[in-house]
Amino acid sequence: MTAFDALAPTYDQDFTASPIAAYLRSRTQERLAQYFHAGDRALELGCGTGEDALWLARRGVRVLATDASAGMVEVAQAKTASEPRVTIERMDLRALPALDAQFDGVYANFGVLNCLDDWRPLSAWLAARVRRGGAAAFCVMSPFCLWEIAWHGLHGEWGVALRRLRGSARFEMGGESLDIHYPTIRRLTRDFAPHFRRAFVMPLGVALPPTDAYGAVERRPGWLRRLMAVERRVERARWLALLADHYWIEFERV
Ligand SMILES: C[S@@+](CC[C@H](N)C(=O)[O-])C[C@H]1O[C@@H](n2cnc3c(N)ncnc32)[C@H](O)[C@@H]1O
Repeated sequence: MTAFDALAPTYDQDFTASPIAAYLRSRTQERLAQYFHAGDRALELGCGTGEDALWLARRGVRVLATDASAGMVEVAQAKTASEPRVTIERMDLRALPALDAQFDGVYANFGVLNCLDDWRPLSAWLAARVRRGGAAAFCVMSPFCLWEIAWHGLHGEWGVALRRLRGSARFEMGGESLDIHYPTIRRLTRDFAPHFRRAFVMPLGVALPPTDAYGAVERRPGWLRRLMAVERRVERARWLALLADHYWIEFERV
């Protein structure tokens, strides 16, 4: 997973600390707080630098945070070293291990599930490890992002503007090709359906742009303030998840 290894050393500086990403993460953490309470045990998939694991651990949740990238794992371990409730381990969602553990819930933030093209094996694997009534919550890059189409379309970059409509796109990162897939809400719901019931959906990044345009908006504090206010107002309109950069989707283990 060298693609993400290359991003790891500056991921927090480039992404985590950006005002737009920080705002969106705060929205997802508000949702996580509804499911995970002090004393609970959570499993994180694709933890990156461990930002959410650290946040939950400080609220008393024990977290097994996993990621396929050795670089991300190294940064996450350093960041959470003084937090005994967090354990960081390498785990690749494409080669799920025989993990003998039970959790109150599982989550994956910011596009981790987009690295798969079939979510049924993950659903079955999680079903054996998440207690009945437990949560599975994911922030997924959506197949139709209005902002991305408009932004790259205006710049005449139609290949980029329309890349999600093909259902998957190839990225060259850190000398490696990485295929990113964009599941619809319906597809994910169907793949998780044998073991999980969809409980909640929220758009993330309707008024706020995708990462390619963070800089353009963040350079204009007035725009940023207004777009954040609009984002907050429209997030209750679930149907806007169909147009957003990401959607947040929650399941309950049945
Ligand atoms: C955009 S980052 C999100 C990181 C973190 N969840 C966050 O909120 O900042 C995507 C993460 O997914 C991890 N990832 C990608 N493919 C994976 C796979 N097959 N198995 C496990 N983790 C994977 C990457 O290493 C990276 O850390």
